Amino acid sequence: MFEAFEKLPDDPILGLTTAYLNDSNPKKVDLGVGVYRDEQGKTPVFDAVKRAERIKLEKETSKTYTGIEGDPVFNEQIQKLILGADHPSLKDGRSCAIVGPGGSGSLRVGAEVINSWKPGANVWVSRPSWPNHIPLIGTAGLTMKEYPYYYEQAHQIRTDEMLGQISKLGSNDVLLLHACCHNPTGADLDMNHWKEIARLAQQNGFTPFVDSAYQGLGRGLDGDAEGLRYLAAAVPEIIIAYSCSKNFGLYRERVGALQIVTKNQTSTEAVRSHMKSVARRLYSVPPAHGAILVGMILSDPELKKSWAAELDGICTRINSLRVQLTDMLAKKGSRQDFSFVRSQYGMFSMLGLSVEQVQRLKKDYSVYMVNSSRINIAGISNSNIDYLTDSILAVI
Ligand code: LMR
Repeated sequence: MFEAFEKLPDDPILGLTTAYLNDSNPKKVDLGVGVYRDEQGKTPVFDAVKRAERIKLEKETSKTYTGIEGDPVFNEQIQKLILGADHPSLKDGRSCAIVGPGGSGSLRVGAEVINSWKPGANVWVSRPSWPNHIPLIGTAGLTMKEYPYYYEQAHQIRTDEMLGQISKLGSNDVLLLHACCHNPTGADLDMNHWKEIARLAQQNGFTPFVDSAYQGLGRGLDGDAEGLRYLAAAVPEIIIAYSCSKNFGLYRERVGALQIVTKNQTSTEAVRSHMKSVARRLYSVPPAHGAILVGMILSDPELKKSWAAELDGICTRINSLRVQLTDMLAKKGSRQDFSFVRSQYGMFSMLGLSVEQVQRLKKDYSVYMVNSSRINIAGISNSNIDYLTDSILAVI
């Protein structure tokens, strides 16, 4: 059977890490995969996570299966973190959540639930979007379509074209949105966009599906959730896939959540049973370790405070790197205007370079970024920013 297989190309994002690690240039810079790095280039374990792990190690008496829905403390706490404890959908008991294997696994369970509701329904993703959205969601049997989102030359959202397309969606359509820190552009929807999308969803009956993978890395925990919270209060139904990879630094532990808000409590119970049925047929039960840690942190005021403060520090550092990169490129005489970088949010921005320029940066300067010229801002540090900006200016 396997003689018929041909080797596939490396993953466009994760493959960059391997290429970077194999590069012997001491000046090499990794701006590829979306992983937070500190000034020393390390991806630290949050202090609150370490403390929760110690407590867990002491207290845990069994590793038997959790239920299909995963840790109940996590499921309760994560909904409050996403929507805010006072959110009307939580007060009305119209929301449920299950642990998912990372944000990706949660997106896939969400896609499967949509497909059992309306097989082959349209899912609209922004152009551009995280490259894995289309294969991950589409292979559940859904029909993937794109709406215009970002004007690469002008480095801004294509508001009119985007809303024009969204205004044509109806009850057979699902609209995938990024809650914050848009991947790959860093250009986030503003409150006017969220309000208009909410109005269109109410009027035309499409279902929002929101991917929230970076809460707390752009404008803080509440700021990054503002649009999503508004939308979830305005529409009768919404699907949310959540990742704790970045904001809890739990990447390899695979911690995410699928949350669904429905019209009434009866539907919530029915939807929960479908979420569990999908999870059972895909992977049976989710990983438990990371979800238990997140549940512990969010339900302990002291751990929560420590985690939120550390996350806030990360957010501040990323925003300051944005300013530094913009300023240094300008100071070194760039004829291209990079001021958009400082006004965007989260881990990513697209520099607006051609694929050839990106390849030259890799080949001649050992600077690694995704072919779309998406950079991971958190890969910049005081020790590489000089070399990085010189390299960028040399290829443009
Ligand atoms: C990224 O976009 O770099 C991250 O979401 C990691 C991944 O899985 O692609």
